[in-house]
Amino acid sequence: MMSPPTKVISALVAALLPFARAITPELMLAAPRRSAATVNPTAQLAVFTSTTYDWAEHEPSTTWNLLHVATGNISELPWGSEVSEVLWIGPTDTSVIYINRTNDEVSGGISIWSADIGAEIIAPSSFITSLAAPFSGFKARQTENGDINWIASSLAYANNGSAYNSELATEPYSTARYYDSIYIRHWDAYISHERYAVFAGTLGNSNGTWAQKGDVRNLISALEYNVTRPETPVQPFGDSGDFDLSPDGTSVVFLTKAPHLPKANYTASYIYQVPFDGSSAPKAINGPGSPAPETAKGASSSPRFSPDGRYVAYGQQDGISYESDRIKLYLADLNSGEIKNLAPDWDLSVGLLKWGPDGQHLYVGADYIAATKLFIIPVNSDASFIPKNVTGSRKTSITDFDVLPNGNALVSSNAVWTSRNFYTVTPESHIEILFAANDVDPGLTGLHPEDFEEFWYPGSQGDLQHSVLIKPTNFSADEKYPLVFYIHGGPQGYTGNTWSTRWNLRTWADQGYVLIGPNPTGSTSFGQKLTDNITNEWGSYPYEDLINAYNYAKDNYDYIDFDNAIGAGASYGGFMTNWIQGHDFGRKFKALVTHDGTACGECKYQTDEIWFINHDNNGTWLNAMQNYNKFDPLDHAANFSTPHFIVHSDLDYRLPVGDGIALFNVLQEKGVPSRFLNFPNENHWVQDRENSLVWHTEIYNWINYWTGKVDSLSDTPIKS
Ligand SMILES: *[C@@H]1O[C@H](CO)[C@@H](O)[C@H](O)[C@H]1NC(C)=O
Ligand SMILES: *[C@@H]1O[C@H](CO)[C@@H](O)[C@H](O)[C@H]1NC(C)=O
Ligand SMILES: *[C@@H]1O[C@H](CO)[C@@H](O)[C@H](O)[C@H]1NC(C)=O
Ligand SMILES: *[C@@H]1O[C@H](CO)[C@@H](O)[C@H](O)[C@H]1NC(C)=O
Ligand SMILES: *[C@@H]1O[C@H](CO)[C@@H](O)[C@H](O)[C@H]1NC(C)=O
Ligand SMILES: *[C@@H]1O[C@H](CO)[C@@H](O)[C@H](O)[C@H]1NC(C)=O
Ligand SMILES: *[C@@H]1O[C@H](CO)[C@@H](O)[C@H](O)[C@H]1NC(C)=O
Ligand SMILES: *[C@@H]1O[C@H](CO)[C@@H](O)[C@H](O)[C@H]1NC(C)=O
Ligand SMILES: *[C@@H]1O[C@H](CO)[C@@H](O)[C@H](O)[C@H]1NC(C)=O
Ligand SMILES: *[C@@H]1O[C@H](CO)[C@@H](O)[C@H](O)[C@H]1NC(C)=O
Ligand SMILES: *[C@@H]1O[C@H](CO)[C@@H](O)[C@H](O)[C@H]1NC(C)=O
Repeated sequence: MMSPPTKVISALVAALLPFARAITPELMLAAPRRSAATVNPTAQLAVFTSTTYDWAEHEPSTTWNLLHVATGNISELPWGSEVSEVLWIGPTDTSVIYINRTNDEVSGGISIWSADIGAEIIAPSSFITSLAAPFSGFKARQTENGDINWIASSLAYANNGSAYNSELATEPYSTARYYDSIYIRHWDAYISHERYAVFAGTLGNSNGTWAQKGDVRNLISALEYNVTRPETPVQPFGDSGDFDLSPDGTSVVFLTKAPHLPKANYTASYIYQVPFDGSSAPKAINGPGSPAPETAKGASSSPRFSPDGRYVAYGQQDGISYESDRIKLYLADLNSGEIKNLAPDWDLSVGLLKWGPDGQHLYVGADYIAATKLFIIPVNSDASFIPKNVTGSRKTSITDFDVLPNGNALVSSNAVWTSRNFYTVTPESHIEILFAANDVDPGLTGLHPEDFEEFWYPGSQGDLQHSVLIKPTNFSADEKYPLVFYIHGGPQGYTGNTWSTRWNLRTWADQGYVLIGPNPTGSTSFGQKLTDNITNEWGSYPYEDLINAYNYAKDNYDYIDFDNAIGAGASYGGFMTNWIQGHDFGRKFKALVTHDGTACGECKYQTDEIWFINHDNNGTWLNAMQNYNKFDPLDHAANFSTPHFIVHSDLDYRLPVGDGIALFNVLQEKGVPSRFLNFPNENHWVQDRENSLVWHTEIYNWINYWTGKVDSLSDTPIKS
């Protein structure tokens, strides 16, 4: 365990914030959602998108913006949501090519355009070429002869590897789906014939104008496999970070799940290198048969070419089927094939990964004490090197960054108190803030860094554990506020200093509660031991930890009304809420809220991610059935008695809707007050803003009713 930082207690003086107002779900959901910013080669400008929502029109609207890095000034570009990607490349430092998601020639295709978006003038855009499929995740490099080589991904036909455009595909007469191996569906989609692949193409430069030159080709179809067909990005969460194009545009690396293992019960994925021109088949960089260490068998991530193209840095886990194993940092020398593990003793997982301009440093985003921080690791560091967090003190969490030519980073971050900050940071941690959403967005008025508070409580295994504490707007220590006790999902995850549009902690607190979000056994960002300790212990250590967090808060915070407490959680947090319902701790709450949580032991085998339950239950259903039944919430139905709100959506294939229905049926049979909210078009997450507004409105009505803040329950449920 890492030692905790000094306790941070804020003194929020209401008088300083005369305009503070409560953040309602409507404000939070409609407020601008800004992408990360991408800088140009000279680091003078960066582009980002901003999307707002109009409740009157029921429509989102997107703008493209230019951030002037020296001043923080922001100007708007004349583009909307039809532009999906912008890449800084071309003859000047402000030249771009961009992807237009519409295509006049081919329905379902896209088009590539060029423009110059210098600070003063925006030169008119020129159409370059149309592509007959919805390619995305573009990366481009200018080659020695002035051409632009690009790579991007698209679904590909299984028979011939060419790019797949669903709008041009012929629909079969039958809707049958027919399988002879597991992994029939994942996340929110059934597995179909097509797989994602990396494609390559060239824009030839002819007298200053660009034109498509030669064919667009699939770079991964020549990779041999005997079990799992190659696919990159790895679905559903993989993106352009799963592949890279060398700085000279001649070589490509990509990762794909292990071709010799079934993908339902293994997480392993490996990195391959292939020439941009496709002249030879992909060759393994790590994985079986490569010089990679024998211990490194798990999922690979973020392959990144060094500025000189000689090395590829990447992350990889040891465990062949453990998705939450520590992600270690590796450096592969493409000349010698030699692979080196950097900072082997560093007990954090590598997330975002980029090279410094000198080719001598790696810039790494890693989760550290409930937020993502930036770290810098020299490539020649010795084995005992432990990097320091460069950005921790800002009280934000990094979502992305670009390394600038001078070695500083332009960081895109968020926090409980801001949906987006942009700032530059030097390797010595000198920070200059360019933009803070809480300063400008009316929906975020009154939020500030002190809104994020934390405390440390004794864990059940003799350790010290971390918890988040969020107070409502205009908090006064002389008053008492009911408790929202929030349990995070994963279980390998954390509640931290991040902005979420699904579980926005401040929006919960602003219903007039103090929110406590503990990080019990299983949580990430505190070192691998705490994460690993939940294996086969879903209902034991964390349950005790949570009671300890509750008791610690009860002993220390007089302003919390523990007689009016709510328990809520999603996914694993939903399982734990269901577990609490059947146990004594459940009687401490006036009401409970479960979003997509497991309710019974064997039901876990309905999931698409067999690797996950096999790991967390330390065996398969066939060889470890007793582990699955050990922590079965429905076994304790005899004690169910706390009013319980259940949300479960139809497209959740990770944790299917049957669990929520079974739980609801049992609660209703027992006569426990309960409601069931379902969205036919949502998966494990409720993302559509209209759906999310209903989600918030109904859940808040439920908790406010049972804590006595409102007199009646809403009238919306469908009557029998
Ligand atoms: C917070 O206090 C200020 C000043 O008293 C007041 O104007 C504002 O309406 C209050 N906001 C809330 C949400 O209570
Ligand atoms: C930045 O914006 C401010 C106010 O809009 C303006 O006065 C200033 O000239 C701008 N600076 C630059 C460098 O564009
Ligand atoms: C996008 O493409 C459409 C044609 O499909 C065109 O009308 C529109 O102007 C383009 N927009 C931009 C920003 O390039
Ligand atoms: C690839 O196969 C699909 C499905 O049979 C077909 O529609 C498509 O035209 C083929 N593409 C090429 C380039 O042959
Ligand atoms: C190249 O471009 C210039 C300026 O755009 C034009 O004057 C010239 O005729 C072009 N040359 C050819 C060979 O197209
Ligand atoms: C697939 O190939 C690997 C070697 O690369 C071999 O160990 C394995 O048995 C093969 N599996 C099948 C199903 O053929
Ligand atoms: C993974 O699943 C396959 C069936 O698809 C099975 O043969 C194999 O034993 C499983 N491996 C593990 C480790 O569960
Ligand atoms: C590193 O993180 C810790 C804990 O969040 C924080 O106290 C410290 O200020 C950070 N250091 C820097 C240099 O940002
Ligand atoms: C992990 O669990 C073991 C018991 O299996 C316990 O001895 C140890 O203290 C726990 N460690 C932490 C950090 O909770
Ligand atoms: C998992 O099972 C193996 C035996 O199959 C046992 O040695 C190990 O201790 C178990 N681990 C946990 C965390 O239960
Ligand atoms: C119900 O709770 C009581 C009191 O804690 C406990 O003794 C009993 O075992 C529980 N029953 C079930 C089915 O969990």
